[in-house]
Amino acid sequence: IIKTLDVTDSLTGLKDVCDLENGRIAGKIFYDQEIYEQELEKVFARCWLFVAHESQIPKTGDYITTSMGEDEVIVIRQKSGGIKVFLNACPHRGNKVCFAESGSTRGFICNYHGWSFNVEGNLVGQHESGVYEDSNFDKSKWGLKEVAQVDSYKGLVFATFDANAPSLKEYLGPIAWYMDALFDNQEGGTEFVGGCIRSTYECNWKIAAENFVGDILHAGWTHDSAARAMLGGSVAKVSDFEESYSVNWNGHGYEFALDTVGNVAVLGESALNKYLHTIKPSVAERLGDFRSNMIGSVSSCTIFPNFSFLPGQNTVRVWQPRGPNKMELFTWVVVNKSAPEEVKEKWRKGAMMTFSPTGVFEMDDGENWEYCTKTAKGRVTAQQDLFVGLGMDTLLTDTPLPANVYEGQLNEANSRAFYQYWYDMLNSRSWNEVPDRNVGKQEAE
Ligand code: FES
Ligand code: FE
Repeated sequence: IIKTLDVTDSLTGLKDVCDLENGRIAGKIFYDQEIYEQELEKVFARCWLFVAHESQIPKTGDYITTSMGEDEVIVIRQKSGGIKVFLNACPHRGNKVCFAESGSTRGFICNYHGWSFNVEGNLVGQHESGVYEDSNFDKSKWGLKEVAQVDSYKGLVFATFDANAPSLKEYLGPIAWYMDALFDNQEGGTEFVGGCIRSTYECNWKIAAENFVGDILHAGWTHDSAARAMLGGSVAKVSDFEESYSVNWNGHGYEFALDTVGNVAVLGESALNKYLHTIKPSVAERLGDFRSNMIGSVSSCTIFPNFSFLPGQNTVRVWQPRGPNKMELFTWVVVNKSAPEEVKEKWRKGAMMTFSPTGVFEMDDGENWEYCTKTAKGRVTAQQDLFVGLGMDTLLTDTPLPANVYEGQLNEANSRAFYQYWYDMLNSRSWNEVPDRNVGKQEAE
């Protein structure tokens, strides 16, 4: 198991980049190499990161490869039924041991000198037997390096390199309650359909993660023309929604409007609306009325730092950092396991039309994100203050809902909380030092 990393004290790149109490961030955070290096160490090597859905690896030896920050990993189902995550790097000279994106195997053999590893990651052989016998070589110490903690929430598998990180349950906190509206609204839970779609953008990962944490503001402007040209209707006006919220916790954010199932009509797929209306009574029984009104609604969520999803379009994604100004996007489509096959297929196709490299909304977003990043290359532009101060006074103090709850979606409360947590992680040498800025409830009343 990888030991907890020692973190450096160097914070020189971080001075004056965030002033969230006054709703300001500096453009510099999107294009700075030193800040990026700190992120890899203090955010991606410590936080819980999404690595797989359980449905992708149902049987012993089933695996997928992905990355945690810039560290490549193998996520593999064990004989015991559990899941382990290993560095995808041979402990001999560091060669990559698995080149496939997914598969099923009894083990891995390194291309370079033939070290071989079983599903449990143990070193089980070398191609010249006996060659290490005189070298004081303890085979049991040279298996694939295991990631410190792995845990699942409702089929979503997360891992962290940090043995001292809080539990996944604690990390997600009350945001998990809201996640159930998508990931646990029917018996049997969810599964991914189709494969992983990968694409690259010349943008900083935070711009994308923040877009999903709570930036509904852009949707009616950025996406309206594509919606009208390609999908047969305008993007709904958020100010028309009767009841909507932005909720956040530890940098995670979820924004949603109640009773807006019709949003899925933007996909031109009435079968999906019909399905959502059909299951609504059983969702109400399972999760209560409030969350039954969240299904298929106009909503989006980011789990800090880089895991996001859009209920309604059912796209699930990870914004993989690949440098301060480069991001690789991994996306999947999630559906209820119990949904009829034709509904699953419509969701898969709907996601292709909207949120995939060929999807109209993804192209809209990608262009904006790339320019938000590129402008910050300018030494002067990078110093510019950016405004994230919308809705400073929208905190709801008298609500039965869990987490930090803000009135409406048209505010930047979740974006501020996202950047604040990011800043706090970068400034904290241990988890104990991370300030607790949560003011809301742990549980729904
Ligand atoms: Fe893998 Fe040598 S680098 S066996
Ligand atoms: Fe968008």
